[in-house]
Amino acid sequence: MYQVLPQLLDKQSLKQLDLLIQKSSWESGRGSAGDQAILVKNNLQLQKSQASFQLIHEILLEALQASEAFLSLTLAHKIYPPTINRYSPEHPEYGAHYDNSVRLRSDGQRVRADLSCTVFLSDPSEYEGGELIIHEQSARHTIRLEAGSALIYPADCLHQVTAVTKGVRTAAFFWIQSMVRQHSQRNLLIQLDQNIQDLRNTLGNTQQTLGLTGVYHQLLRQWAEI
Ligand code: NI
Repeated sequence: MYQVLPQLLDKQSLKQLDLLIQKSSWESGRGSAGDQAILVKNNLQLQKSQASFQLIHEILLEALQASEAFLSLTLAHKIYPPTINRYSPEHPEYGAHYDNSVRLRSDGQRVRADLSCTVFLSDPSEYEGGELIIHEQSARHTIRLEAGSALIYPADCLHQVTAVTKGVRTAAFFWIQSMVRQHSQRNLLIQLDQNIQDLRNTLGNTQQTLGLTGVYHQLLRQWAEI
């Protein structure tokens, strides 16, 4: 199950990011790929050692922390810091691959990748191709979102970015360790949360919404690993 988070970044943040990205340096994306992914990966990644990367990182994390939808959809416990990648006809694609399951952060902490998040920084009108395809069991989801919107999907899915044939596609991506590791349990909590919100919006706060909120927290308390 994937989720779209519309307008995670507002126009001002997108503009700030665009200016920072314009003056940044890039390197081959192959440097951070695992043994099987390196065979199919041909894109560029923003060098992390430069000052602009730190600012980009802060803008993105601030937007995530301010987004209630992001927190309720991911139940995020830890985040592996964002990477910025770029596809163009010279470095067009990333073939079907699985991401590594556990990542080591620069602060020495390990992050288990439960969910992947891609934040689209280019508008679909700026490039051709460059579709994110997620293979989920027998289904194939093909996704291109407007600039500033994000896609959250299970990190254990086979996925790929098809060749960009024209223009430039820039995106940020990162991994999330959720408090709730099992997708099935997390998905139940998300459904329950969304139904409680809908009930609140139509009926206001009632004994029943209070009771269901209690159930939500009992389940989260049972399932959360922190
Ligand atoms: Ni990947």
